[in-house]
Amino acid sequence: MRISPLIQQANFDVADWDVDAEFGVFPQGARAKDAVITPPSPAEVVLVPSKRYLFKRSEKRYPDQFWGEVIAYRVGCLLGITVPPAFAAYNSRSGYCAALIEWFYSDGTESFVMAGDFLQKIQPDFDRKRGIQHNLYTNSILMKALSQNSSLVSDWRQWWVDALLFDALIGNTDRHQDNWGVIFFLEGTGAKCRLSPLFDNGTSLGHERFPQNIRNWSNADIERYAHNGKHHVKWSLSEHPLINGHFELLQRAVAAWPGTRELARERLDFTQQDIIDALSDLCRLNLPVPLLPERFAFILRLLFYRLQIIKSLLQ
Ligand SMILES: Nc1ncnc2c1ncn2[C@@H]1O[C@H](COP(=O)(O)OP(=O)(O)OP(=O)(O)O)[C@@H](O)[C@H]1O
Ligand SMILES: [Mg+2]
Repeated sequence: MRISPLIQQANFDVADWDVDAEFGVFPQGARAKDAVITPPSPAEVVLVPSKRYLFKRSEKRYPDQFWGEVIAYRVGCLLGITVPPAFAAYNSRSGYCAALIEWFYSDGTESFVMAGDFLQKIQPDFDRKRGIQHNLYTNSILMKALSQNSSLVSDWRQWWVDALLFDALIGNTDRHQDNWGVIFFLEGTGAKCRLSPLFDNGTSLGHERFPQNIRNWSNADIERYAHNGKHHVKWSLSEHPLINGHFELLQRAVAAWPGTRELARERLDFTQQDIIDALSDLCRLNLPVPLLPERFAFILRLLFYRLQIIKSLLQ
């Protein structure tokens, strides 16, 4: 069930790697990023030779945010949910630290379409900037349309429950319509598609809270914070109040799609100690912006609390 994570032994310096001229500096999104190409013989086996990776920096005001992408990858592995491998990296020439994230589809043979492109066609007034209409009812119409002629090979209900489970555990508030999508590929003579791995996971894990401000948080503070967490997607636009709390949304989806419950429960078959074991090596990586003990302790508190809540609501 669990996926063995790719564990780096040291940080990666991308200063001498090629920057992908085709992609250059990514204009899209809130965080600065380059596409870089690994050398033909990378420093460690966890890196695929001559492959494109995203070098994705933190938002300026949250310098250690990039760690969230790396931690989210490890949490995805614990759950057995596919998240693009993410590593801690820096550029010794520019001085920037970033998450180094493996490209999640094959150039040339596959193409990626952001869900927002489809949703805008289904709902011409779809607010692409904020995605306020992003909801699972409309998403399921899209999923059913893609399933026609068996072209969608993913079990979309399970995929969504997995996404909601993962996002609830890490407290991700940013799974908007362009942070998931569909990968098209050819199989035999026909076009098929699958849902993307869960990428862009850095708006999570309490990254926007500064260690000096959360140092004295009580358990009640952690609980309040976790229960205030909202997913970007709503259950539907017709229910009021809208359902988009991380926990209630997951519960709602599992109730609507009961066939997803068993796997969701199995995914949670790990302990607090397993979480510590899956993440602790990151604190030993020597980067200009390290994963500091206080940040790590806060992230663990959040993960432990959310894990306990999710386990209880899936019982
Ligand atoms: N690992 C990856 N492989 C291929 N494409 C990717 C990968 N990660 C991101 N992308 C593409 O790059 C775009 C921007 O990346 P990402 O969503 O991670 O950045 P962002 O700045 O955080 O965006 P946002 O505004 O959603 O927060 C994505 O919408 C996706 O199309
Ligand atoms: Mg994004």
